[in-house]
Amino acid sequence: MLSQASSQMFESKRLQCGWQLPMRGLVELDSTLSVHLEEEGVVLSLELREIAQQRKADREVHQADLTHANKELLRNLAHEIKNPLGGVRGAAQLLDRELPSDELREYTQVIIKEADRLQGLVDQMLAPHRRLRVMESVNIHEVCERVRSLMLAEFPSGLVIKRDYDISIPDLRGDREQLIQVVLNVVRNAAEALTGEGEIVLCSRIARQVTISKKRCRLALDLHVIDNGPGIPEELRERVFYPLVSGRPQGHGLGLTLAQSYVHQHGGLIDVESRPGRTDFLIRIPIESGGVTS
Ligand SMILES: Nc1ncnc2c1ncn2[C@@H]1O[C@H](COP(=O)(O)OP(=O)(O)O)[C@@H](O)[C@H]1O
Ligand SMILES: [Mg+2]
Repeated sequence: MLSQASSQMFESKRLQCGWQLPMRGLVELDSTLSVHLEEEGVVLSLELREIAQQRKADREVHQADLTHANKELLRNLAHEIKNPLGGVRGAAQLLDRELPSDELREYTQVIIKEADRLQGLVDQMLAPHRRLRVMESVNIHEVCERVRSLMLAEFPSGLVIKRDYDISIPDLRGDREQLIQVVLNVVRNAAEALTGEGEIVLCSRIARQVTISKKRCRLALDLHVIDNGPGIPEELRERVFYPLVSGRPQGHGLGLTLAQSYVHQHGGLIDVESRPGRTDFLIRIPIESGGVTS
């Protein structure tokens, strides 16, 4: 097959085969051999993934479709709620002025406050669609530093955020404000989950020749947000990116949904591995696309 590949008889071939690996014995691997034409000649790349990982990637694509449908539904619902809500608030305000006593006014104040809270929620649901993206050159470490200082201001007592940056990572093209929001939402969740001795690590790395939602990507940024808190409650683990899924009494369950929307708009992916003592959110954003579709 190698000689077929080097004489360019195909662009890309995918096989499932057993590989004998030292230490691990026979392992079933999904193997993709791709041919790239580069300036210096024909380059072959071999991508090996464990079948379990492949299943995970397939599930990711399926989930992305599902999430898209869910979001569409949610957005329509949010629009439907927005208009009558304005009416309810306006009427409560008028009534508030007419009421003879402060005691009665307490009730109208409850209506107004709760209407405002719902309004805030609805605004968050609509947020990903409200503003046009501004694509510019973004340095991911500037984004991380901004989030770090915002979070240290928000949690003044004892929050530790360490950095483990690969400063050779080139700038990427993206919407700076959206990327700040993504990292902020993930880091804020980590900070909220931590108690006492906890710490958060922001870790940036280069990823080469990866596949994101079936698209080949020559170079990508991997940003890990790792905390040593209690981990995502088991019953939520599969669903944390869904809207309105929250493990906190005050939570709206929209932070990760929004983060995922923004990451998808950048052609990237967001994923999490979590167990008690270690939660690792991976934000992967393409820097250079290209390569051969597998
Ligand atoms: N680093 C983390 N550690 C533990 N739990 C987490 C972490 N990140 C997210 N979660 C869980 O995921 C839920 C959903 O997060 P999010 O979508 O931001 O909504 P919210 O913060 O409003 O609850 C959180 O309520 C929390 O239970
Ligand atoms: Mg949150």
